Amino acid sequence: AIAIGLVALGGYLLGSIPFGLVLTRLAGYGDIRAIGSGNIGATNVLRTGNKPLALATLLLDSGKGAIAVLIAVALFETPMMGVIAGGAAFLGHCFPVWLGFKGGKGVATFLGTMIAAAWPVGLACCATWAVTAALTRMSSLSALVAAALGPVYALFLADQPRAGLALFCAVLIFIRHKDNIARILAGTEPRIGAGKKKG
Ligand code: G3P
Repeated sequence: AIAIGLVALGGYLLGSIPFGLVLTRLAGYGDIRAIGSGNIGATNVLRTGNKPLALATLLLDSGKGAIAVLIAVALFETPMMGVIAGGAAFLGHCFPVWLGFKGGKGVATFLGTMIAAAWPVGLACCATWAVTAALTRMSSLSALVAAALGPVYALFLADQPRAGLALFCAVLIFIRHKDNIARILAGTEPRIGAGKKKG
């Protein structure tokens, strides 16, 4: 039980590092939460117009989820600890203590976590994101489709614990995208490469 608590805490702390916020501040753009959608994720960092910075945010936010899983699995040699660490890192990104528990929408961290926890599932989700983005140019819609299919992929390509992890992330991703879903339905969600209102 102590080990599970430590894995969860470690995963949470790793996941709670808001790389998008840190990088945009270091690069001199000020507070990312005052830009575009106000989100701290790579999609919103892209709205600064700085593509390398957005890519770095994507890689670091997904990387922290992956690293949390890989460290837990290496230490305890059980996939279940990876599931706990990954779920905790995902929660850390969405609800970081440092930002008054107001964090990101979890997409990059979900993708990185799934790649490390069950790489075929992670790759399938990334491919789903990419295909949907190519078709619709909407980051949020691509994330919602990838997240919704994640648990389905996991049932076929992994096992129940990892399908559970994917389902847990998917439910939270949908909740975190409440405003995006409203805009998608209203036809006002901006396409990748365009500016957008706060929310
Ligand atoms: O990763 C979040 C993305 O799906 C939507 O971001 O900034 O357009 O709300 P944003």
